[in-house]
Amino acid sequence: MTAHSPLGNGTHARPAPPPQGRRVVLRIKRCDGPVKPSYWQDFSVPVGPNANVISCLQTICASPVTADGRATTPVAWDAGCLEEVCGSCTMVINGKARQSCSCLIDEHAPRDGDVITLEPMSKFPVVRDLVVNRDRAFHALRRVRAWVPIDGTYALGAGPRETPQTQETRYALSQCMSCGCCLEACPQFNLQPDPAAWETSFIGAHAISQARLFNLHQTGSRMAAERLEALMGPGGVSDCGNAQNCVKVCPKKIPLTESIAAMGRAVTVHSVKKFFSLA
Ligand code: SF4
Ligand code: SF4
Ligand code: FES
Repeated sequence: MTAHSPLGNGTHARPAPPPQGRRVVLRIKRCDGPVKPSYWQDFSVPVGPNANVISCLQTICASPVTADGRATTPVAWDAGCLEEVCGSCTMVINGKARQSCSCLIDEHAPRDGDVITLEPMSKFPVVRDLVVNRDRAFHALRRVRAWVPIDGTYALGAGPRETPQTQETRYALSQCMSCGCCLEACPQFNLQPDPAAWETSFIGAHAISQARLFNLHQTGSRMAAERLEALMGPGGVSDCGNAQNCVKVCPKKIPLTESIAAMGRAVTVHSVKKFFSLA
């Protein structure tokens, strides 16, 4: 099929390159510390080719002056890998949770004077400015025992073989970076600063999917029943309202709703077996 082209020669016209020497406005929701009130500040930042949100924040830090010329404190943010692997730089950019290291300014604010809003994720407690505490996301991984058990530190020899089909399924799930985008978008996952309540609050799509990943692993499946028990209780897989927001926002395109359905079925089978073994 030939692509329609305004040029009439089978090629698409490229959008005009962003103007050189332009500036963008970063409108940042700031907060001076835990439970402190938040406030907005605008920063006018010069941007060159291939600038991303992190490079703009670095520019602000080098000279923290607001767009109306007032000196202020440097903006705090988190980052690690700078290649969309660690998830630590996740924030809400123009209303959508995503990684700031891979957010290119030319794509989101192509014109001189365009505005980009940056906010911390709302489902985790703010530490400062754009930095949030994602401990609850990692606690959820501990709830479902998202690891493979080993006997000791000595060599155990080759593990059991996996089929290519299982490898393919597990590879997709293994790309989760615990960034929190799926939790930010989920209507069932709400801000819960009290760690005492985490054990019974909704566990989140990422942890349900990781339980599936490790239950599909031949050695990891030794703890399958414990993972299913964790997903059976309050805040488990039955608390998912099936809104499917999570799968739409996952930057790694992890099939989260497929995982939720698979683990929902596994939990049902496990509870029936448990009922008859106790009866
Ligand atoms: S499932 Fe996707 S959106 Fe959720 S934490 Fe993992 S990578 Fe992030
Ligand atoms: S499908 Fe479940 S986990 Fe995903 S956004 Fe909806 S309620 Fe949350
Ligand atoms: S810094 Fe690691 S994902 Fe952005």
